[in-house]
Amino acid sequence: MTRRAVLPGSFDPVTNGHVDIIERARQHFDELIVVIMHNPAKAGRFPVAERVALMRDSLKDDRGVRVETFSDVLLVDVCADLGAGVIVKGIRGPADYEYELPMARMNRQLAGVETFFLPSDPEWDHVSSSLVTEVASYGGDVSHLVPRAVWDALK
Ligand code: PNS
Repeated sequence: MTRRAVLPGSFDPVTNGHVDIIERARQHFDELIVVIMHNPAKAGRFPVAERVALMRDSLKDDRGVRVETFSDVLLVDVCADLGAGVIVKGIRGPADYEYELPMARMNRQLAGVETFFLPSDPEWDHVSSSLVTEVASYGGDVSHLVPRAVWDALK
């Protein structure tokens, strides 16, 4: 049986922390599908199509990882569509855990889809899409925190 997992998020834009989680997660599944979705609770920065392009560019040497985008659909329906029984989420600290836990429970209750939490590498604990975008918007150098293509886009 193919072990297929989905790694969903806004990725607005992808950071080195996301890439680290993706690279580590993919070692534990036959197929890992990064699913980029619009989160209505968050103000969008990059258009979804650009986030997909930036993600594909950032993972270009990574075999076994697909990048897909879905909109206006439940994540559990995306999982069913893609034949994935597992969701993977990176956790940077207690705030992420508190945010993710109800969604993990809801997704399991809705469709029996389990969520695996992967602790982030401490190197990236403070890195978020919103913070790198904010720092870059004031002219700050975040080139060490994001993939090259994202840094070029932020500039
Ligand atoms: O990176 P984010 O913004 O934390 O990602 C959140 C995302 C897009 C994974 C979440 O909002 C989501 O799952 N959206 C799809 C709609 C859905 O299934 N909502 C109910 C979640 S229990």
